[in-house]
Amino acid sequence: MAVSLLDRVRSYVEPLILVGISISYLPITAVLHPLLLVSSPTSFRAKWFENFWRIIGPKMAASEIQVEHIDELLSRARGAVLELGPGGGDQMYHYRPGQISTLYGAEPNAFLHARLAEMAAAHGLGGAKFVALEAAAQPGSLLPALKKAGLVPATTSTLPEQGVFDTVVAIKSLCSAPQPQLAATVAVIQALLKPGGEFLFFEHVENSSDPVTMSYAWLLGWFWPLFTGGCRLNGKVDRIILGMGGWDQRSVTTTGDFRGHEVFRYVKGICRKT
Ligand SMILES: C[S@@+](CC[C@H](N)C(=O)[O-])C[C@H]1O[C@@H](n2cnc3c(N)ncnc32)[C@H](O)[C@@H]1O
Repeated sequence: MAVSLLDRVRSYVEPLILVGISISYLPITAVLHPLLLVSSPTSFRAKWFENFWRIIGPKMAASEIQVEHIDELLSRARGAVLELGPGGGDQMYHYRPGQISTLYGAEPNAFLHARLAEMAAAHGLGGAKFVALEAAAQPGSLLPALKKAGLVPATTSTLPEQGVFDTVVAIKSLCSAPQPQLAATVAVIQALLKPGGEFLFFEHVENSSDPVTMSYAWLLGWFWPLFTGGCRLNGKVDRIILGMGGWDQRSVTTTGDFRGHEVFRYVKGICRKT
């Protein structure tokens, strides 16, 4: 389908608007947390992202073109669930608490934890049903946190053969995990699933078909992660999943609203471990 120049420009401006909104939270964060700025630039960046995401997260989670897909995924989550990068818990309302025993939220930004716990409780996952872990998705961060929480044995280097979780979820978070480690991250996700357990994801991945958009995304990629909590525009989780074994059912689809020229190509995945 031919894309008009106006449509193309519109979709190229969209990420710039997000960068602009993020920049507007920089002076606010600096004024409110001047000590953090000098004592720990890493914590300052996390606080800046929290201030930005507190406003943008709920708006993104209400995006009409994404709600239905995310609901289809999260309504399947059951048993012991691990969610990678749940942010401030804006997607919590999609879970069906009656079918979940415990939800573990591995969120590396500790400033988001208070809101995350609040949102879990507000959506039927309060008390012992929700555990926040201060961890990122990559194995070097996730596995020590799981050991600390007593979910995997602290003394061995191998993961339990029978798995740990019934469901692992990632909604727009693997884009922020280190991309060179993504294949290893997905391999650990699979190893953590019990046989028959499901990996459910909704992520944006690279546009690898439109040369103009690819060039634009490459340019944008030089500064985009700085303003978006480390998000990358060249995600490949779809290709990694399709290139690996160990799933007895796997559906990875580009969501229907993608027209070919957008920087963000969203993919939805339902993968059942053999
Ligand atoms: C775009 S937000 C999405 C939050 C939430 N999943 C949602 O849809 O509302 C990305 C989230 O990933 C988290 N994140 C950043 N680096 C990460 C990493 N290496 N592994 C997992 N999550 C990460 C961020 O702190 C943030 O909460």
